[in-house]
Amino acid sequence: MRMTPLRAAFYTLGCRLNQAETATLSATFAAQGYTIVEFGEETDVCVINTCSVTESAEAKCRQAVRAVLRRSPQAYVAVTGCYAQVGVEALRRIEGLDLIVGTEDKMRLVECIDAVPQKLGQPRVVHSTKISRHPFTIAGVGDYSGQTRANIKIQDGCNFACAFCIIPFTRGGARSRELDDIVREAHGLVAQGHREIVLTGVNIGTYDDAGQDVLRVVQALEPIAGLERIRISSIEPTTISEALVEWMATSSKLCPYLHVPVQSGDDQVLQRMKRRYTRATFAAFIERVAARVPDMCLGTDVMVGFPGEDERAFNNTHTLLADLPLAYFHVFSYSERPHTYAQRYRDPVVPAVVQQRSRLLRELSARQKAAFYRRFTGRTLRVLFEHRDASGLFTGFSDNYIRVGMATESNVANQLLPIRLLSADDGLALGRLVPASSPV
Ligand code: F3S
Repeated sequence: MRMTPLRAAFYTLGCRLNQAETATLSATFAAQGYTIVEFGEETDVCVINTCSVTESAEAKCRQAVRAVLRRSPQAYVAVTGCYAQVGVEALRRIEGLDLIVGTEDKMRLVECIDAVPQKLGQPRVVHSTKISRHPFTIAGVGDYSGQTRANIKIQDGCNFACAFCIIPFTRGGARSRELDDIVREAHGLVAQGHREIVLTGVNIGTYDDAGQDVLRVVQALEPIAGLERIRISSIEPTTISEALVEWMATSSKLCPYLHVPVQSGDDQVLQRMKRRYTRATFAAFIERVAARVPDMCLGTDVMVGFPGEDERAFNNTHTLLADLPLAYFHVFSYSERPHTYAQRYRDPVVPAVVQQRSRLLRELSARQKAAFYRRFTGRTLRVLFEHRDASGLFTGFSDNYIRVGMATESNVANQLLPIRLLSADDGLALGRLVPASSPV
């Protein structure tokens, strides 16, 4: 009989939702008696939570699995996540892999491993092509030790069927977590010391628990004593209600921050992508929100190289992003995905052009971010500090998502402090603590 507890390590690829799910998985392993160790340390079980959003994301997953098997040949290696749902055959071919768990069984992964995990030479596959659409609950409280902000999963799956997106195939249709269960976990996260919670899911604006929407989730969390900030992660533009924007304008806990994917600024491309808005309606929405919540941070995702994106279409995207009060954008290259509608388009953009366009958008984003940061120099913002960076500055984020660094001897991790911004440079604003007696 084994006397020392088994060790488990986790590695996450992909999005914030995957991070949230890894945090929950880690807590379920701990509850079963495992000792959680850092990824890279010697371990008995290693869980890799994968992503399938692009071809290169899948390649990274395979690399990660092989690297773990090389480094720890004795470890029991389990793969779950989006690639485990749609890439079973490719994963099966990786010699030494022990377990593949698809989306439906992801959260009960720990139950799929025997009390004494044994390498059998062939991966066991726990997989279902059918993914439940029912409202759900999640056991336990996510393990975010070592992190200041905690994510909370409120929703999964998506019914939108954008032409480029594999997620409906990796995660299934939209479903929502029961509101009471979200509130229960939030209490647990706050009890662990987290002061900021980020609401996450695939399409969180479609959250619906018996008629209760995402604003109701925010309103249910706000009374939790000790919870100082609630942040909404990426949310589809057509799902944001006026009431949510109004709440954001006046709430002291809901951060003035929205990450709203635009994908393209060209109507023809938007139509071919099967997005649910036009360039004009997106622009009107962003302008309206920015006017209503003046200091807010608005960010976006933009996709480059979608089939048929010609010079004119790209310029439309570039001018739209340049004209709107967007503080930053994440730039992605289109990647053809199995099962998706866009696979039938036969007018790809050549890779060199995609690279060039991505570079132009990244440069534009950097300029807009710098301008956004500069707007706040001389102002005092409340910063939730996280950790010391490589240069020795303590860094954290304001509620409107400005990354702030401060020189200090003290350990200010997880403290929410008033900081006057002195300068802004290259994705970091520098500031100093405002003494308690100073006017803020
Ligand atoms: Fe990747 Fe699945 Fe998230 S495809 S981006 S891990 S929803």
